[in-house]
This record gives sequence, structure tokens and C-alpha cells, in this order.
Amino acid sequence: MIEIKEIKKYYKDKLILKIDNFIFKDKKIYSIMGKNGSGKSTLLSVLAQVIESDKKIIYYKQEDLILCPQEVVFLKGTLFYNLVEPFNLTGLYLDKQKLANFLVDFGLDNLKNSEIKNLSGGEKAKAQFIRTLLYNKEVVLLDEPTASMDKKSSFIVEDAILDLKKKGKIVIIVTHDYEQACRISDYIYEMDNGELVLKKEFLCREN
Ligand SMILES: Nc1ncnc2c1ncn2[C@@H]1O[C@H](COP(=O)(O)OP(=O)(O)OP(=O)(O)O)[C@@H](O)[C@H]1O
Ligand SMILES: [Mg+2]
Repeated sequence: MIEIKEIKKYYKDKLILKIDNFIFKDKKIYSIMGKNGSGKSTLLSVLAQVIESDKKIIYYKQEDLILCPQEVVFLKGTLFYNLVEPFNLTGLYLDKQKLANFLVDFGLDNLKNSEIKNLSGGEKAKAQFIRTLLYNKEVVLLDEPTASMDKKSSFIVEDAILDLKKKGKIVIIVTHDYEQACRISDYIYEMDNGELVLKKEFLCREN
């Protein structure tokens, strides 16, 4: 569970986030929608402690959380290096079978030894998504993971997200795709004037 008592974030005089008393429950998928510039990425970055906020009272374990950012972030080197090296560097467990399965499912297997900078936008997005899931964290923040992906790949991502929920994890996904949000979410929120406004909840969805 993530319990937010208060978040306030300004850029100069502009209030970007003002969230009070909000709970992200375990084993639930939250979609966050909203206009460009409404603060969705800012919220994920505050939760992941990538950026500071002006006020923040949140109860959760920071080390349990991983963010897949909107912009891809890679090291120099091949696709395979980028998927394996973070685990070599940190000593975290790497599930090699899961990695191999994802590469095949996403059709990236034959690109393993390609320089990451030469991959297409969608291929890079898939690589970043795979790396995020390999961390095997309890809370997974996904910022428009499928924005540049084809339909088949988007469905693989959606299946993987539903699988995370089955394992009891919290998934918070930012998306502009309302149909996608309806397919997978327990709750759909809209970021509006810095606040999270509930748009739809799917109470009967199986756990
Ligand atoms: N480092 C920064 N300095 C100043 N303003 C910023 C900074 N980062 C973001 N902003 C502003 O904060 C607002 C929220 O940005 P954010 O990236 O959270 O939007 P978003 O909802 O994710 O939009 P999109 O759908 O386009 O990804 C925007 O108006 C943006 O211009
Ligand atoms: Mg954004």
C-alpha cells in the first residue's frame, strides 16, 4: 500500500500537484489519464523520488518501487548489455528465463546484440519495459509504456500488467488510451488541476 497524506509540487509559481489523503491499494491497477502537462509524469517522478516536491508526506517503502519513465534511459551498448548490466552492477537477482521469454514474446530476440541506439522507438520502449519488470518490485510505475508500441506489443504489456496484479503488486500506469485503461484497470483517475479525480472504478473485476 502507498499512503499519500500530502503532496505539493510547484514549478515556479505554478501548482502542478496538490494531492491529499490518497491510498494506492495492493493488488490493484490504477490508470492515470489527463491532458498533456497536467502533472502525470511529475506525480510518478515524485513517488519514485526522481524529483523533489515542495511538500511530501507519503508512507511506503521506496526500495519496493520501480519507475519506467516516459523517456527511455539507457547505457551505451547493446540491447542485451542494457538488460543484464543493471543486475551485474547492483547484484540484484536476474531472472534469465523471464528475460529470454520477454525477448521472444516481444520479437526482440534477434536484436539482442544490436546497439541500443539503433533500435526503433517502439523497440526501445519494449526494452525499457522488460528491464522494469525484471526488477521484480512490489510497486510498478509505468509512464505511457505503450505509447510507441504496435497493438500486439501493447497487449503483451497489458497481459504482463495483469500478471503483476495477480502477484499482489500495485501497478500505476499513465496512459492516454482510454480503452486500454478500461481493459486492465481497477480504477481510472484523471489528473485535473493537480488533483487525482476518480473517473471510473471496476468493482467486479476479479482479483
Ligand atoms: N523541470 C521542469 N521545470 C519547469 N516546469 C516543468 C518541469 N517539468 C515539468 N514541468 C511542467 O509541469 C507540468 C506537468 O508536466 P508533466 O510532465 O508532469 O505532464 P504530463 O501530465 O506527464 O504530460 P504528458 O501527457 O505530455 O506526458 C507541465 O506544464 C510541464 O511543462
Ligand atoms: Mg508525461
